[in-house]
Amino acid sequence: MRHRDSTAAAASAHRHGAGPQSGHSAHVRVSDLSHAYRRGGPLALGGVDLEVRPGEIAALVGRSGCGKSTLLHLIAGLATPTAGAVHINGARVTGPSPRWVMMFQAPSLFPWMTVAQNAALGLRFTRRAHLVAERIPRLLRLVDLAALADRNAQELSGGQQQRVALARSLATEPDLLLLDEPFSALDAFTRRALQADVRRIAGELGLTVILVTHDVGEAVAMADRAFVMAADPGRVVCETALAPASREPGTPAFEAERTRLATLYETHAARRDAA
Ligand SMILES: Nc1ncnc2c1ncn2[C@@H]1O[C@H](COP(=O)(O)OP(=O)(O)OP(=O)(O)O)[C@@H](O)[C@H]1O
Ligand SMILES: [Mg+2]
Repeated sequence: MRHRDSTAAAASAHRHGAGPQSGHSAHVRVSDLSHAYRRGGPLALGGVDLEVRPGEIAALVGRSGCGKSTLLHLIAGLATPTAGAVHINGARVTGPSPRWVMMFQAPSLFPWMTVAQNAALGLRFTRRAHLVAERIPRLLRLVDLAALADRNAQELSGGQQQRVALARSLATEPDLLLLDEPFSALDAFTRRALQADVRRIAGELGLTVILVTHDVGEAVAMADRAFVMAADPGRVVCETALAPASREPGTPAFEAERTRLATLYETHAARRDAA
């Protein structure tokens, strides 16, 4: 049975439709989604329902193996669900699209190319090279890398490389950004800076974001809403709005919200571990 937490429900409406380009936001609806990697094999996901509103940042939290990446792949159209459906802006997802992009833990840049060349790859692959000159300098400013545009990617720190990957993801002007633990390999300071930057950039562009994370603090710092998942089969067991006044790590409000989410997580998702 799905638990819907109501204590912070009133906090959910603050971002919807916000931003000058909210027309670029995606509305994501996942309906009764199930997935088995082998026919007749165990269900990695079993009957997931969720909705992410246009311009919202949603976090999927849950322990290892509960199906977070599987869910993100199905939303992105990188795999076909065994049952159920994903709709983005009312259209059923049947495969990948430049309207939604996925970012992973490893930035996977071409080390011998410059920052600007790496950031422009998505545009070149989608035959929009004519947009590079206008778009890439603007995006590199947005991710705070303008000064490093001509630097080779292999000379960058991990955090800088992840910023290049973010610029590359944004270059095709997607409606939806899917992030699979994109900051987990970074040190705490770099991670915190990128969390704040991604939230700011998503707000400026009006993007919808779905973020997978193990870290409840990351969910509190970044997301408007968290979906807590449990395993065997992977499913959403709890959904809660996150208070906007609690985003600043280190503040009492942040700690209180983190504790609240951690308690929900332990109550609903980690029960098997505690037993
Ligand atoms: N390619 C695959 N083939 C078969 N089973 C898979 C495959 N990928 C994942 N699984 C299984 O599906 C389940 C969910 O995996 P998934 O990678 O979605 O979990 P996750 O929540 O992202 O975990 P983590 O936090 O460790 O990344 C697991 O039981 C996993 O073993
Ligand atoms: Mg995963």
